[in-house]
Amino acid sequence: MEKSGNKKRENWSSRIGFIFAAAGSAVGLGNIWRFPYLTAENGGGAFIFIYLAFVLVIGLSTMLAEFTLGRRTRLGAVGAYKHVDRRWTFAGVLGVLSPFMIMGFYPVVGGWATAYIFKSLTGLLSNPAAIGDAFGAFITNPIEPVFWMVLYLAINIIIVVKGVASGIEKAGKILMPVLFVLMILIGIRSITLEGAGAGLQFMFMPDWSKVHGSTFLAALGQAFFSLSLGMGAMITYGSYLDKQENLPSSALTVTILDTSVAILAAISIIPALFAFGMEPNQGPGLVFIVLPQLFAQLGGIGFLFSAIFFIALMIAALTSSVSLLEVCVAYLIDERGISRKKAVSLAGGSMVITSLLSSLSLGVMSGFTILGVGVFDFFDILTDKIFLAIGGMLVCIVIGWFMNKEDIKDELTNGGSVKFGLFDVWYNLVKYVIPIAIAIVAFFGIISIPHTSLMIFGLAVIAVLAIFSKKL
Ligand code: TRP
Repeated sequence: MEKSGNKKRENWSSRIGFIFAAAGSAVGLGNIWRFPYLTAENGGGAFIFIYLAFVLVIGLSTMLAEFTLGRRTRLGAVGAYKHVDRRWTFAGVLGVLSPFMIMGFYPVVGGWATAYIFKSLTGLLSNPAAIGDAFGAFITNPIEPVFWMVLYLAINIIIVVKGVASGIEKAGKILMPVLFVLMILIGIRSITLEGAGAGLQFMFMPDWSKVHGSTFLAALGQAFFSLSLGMGAMITYGSYLDKQENLPSSALTVTILDTSVAILAAISIIPALFAFGMEPNQGPGLVFIVLPQLFAQLGGIGFLFSAIFFIALMIAALTSSVSLLEVCVAYLIDERGISRKKAVSLAGGSMVITSLLSSLSLGVMSGFTILGVGVFDFFDILTDKIFLAIGGMLVCIVIGWFMNKEDIKDELTNGGSVKFGLFDVWYNLVKYVIPIAIAIVAFFGIISIPHTSLMIFGLAVIAVLAIFSKKL
């Protein structure tokens, strides 16, 4: 395969800048908002164990596969697949559809985090007993969360308009370390609460009787979601990567950072949940209910910790959603030939509408459902439970079966100058093990979760994309 890349492409200004940006894409609401509540809902330790196994065996290798494909072709998701083989264009299209759909609910939660910064500062979260009800009232309100969602999306748009190196990279570099330190402080507070031990036990002593087919699919979807895999975000980031960068060590670093933040977030939240005597099945409200209680109980300057936490959460969300928006924008620029500014307005504008519907679906529009779920859940379940997993499978299949092994090796080792002793292990994982493992997990997951018609719809969408891909 020929190397492409005749177009002049923006590049990361330094190696550490790339790591920060890729880790910034990975570390987000997936780690801090979603991982703790999924862990709590899926029985604790066993879920964490399965999750870690998937991250190690499937996630890490898939990330390396995406980096490799992106840097080899120097193109965004759609272009990269098209370059390998036109029949695979649909995998790239799926890789643009997924972030677009994730951006149909992600800004809603990003908006909640933004709102909670102000709620913390203005003392609205100072009464521990009222915090749970206040959250419920807030997210079902037709106006307030919409206001914060629009503000949140506007910030994304501004960052992405400014371009790769100056906008995304700078934001990531400053804000990720702040987040990390803060999570450690909150974690220490949480595990030193009286009664926190039961939470730690719940997290680290697996109870296998709580594991079902759907647990594996939830863990797999979460692994892809959290690592920003399965839709071309890391392909696009890889395409901006310098030929000198060490791909395996970059993938390893990003995976370790992402996983530590997820575990840290769970340690911050789950022991506190048990200490407060609450039920683990709080769902998506978990982080917005448990942590404000923890901060409120600190009294005094607790509100400041609360504000700093939600600033960090918003920032983590921002560096991720910026990468989601960037995938859509890169597609419009590379494949449709429009200017960055136009591409951002078009993509960002549509996301305002989808996120608006999502936000309203939790309140006034709750009666409106598609295939049995509201708009918010529609976007969430379809991407997390189907599109990302299939997207990850496709990137592995394309690399394993449709590209030249020597080319891949050359790209991975920077023409032989970087040692990667595990190349054959990785290659066989990508070629055989991962596609089969995903197929098995998806099959048993789909038959055991309650949204079977939605799942079948998702598979049908992918099939239609595959059939019509030659026209794209
Ligand atoms: N990884 C991010 C999070 O954990 C979300 C995200 C950003 C993402 N880019 C992605 C998920 C690409 C899947 C694919 O919040």
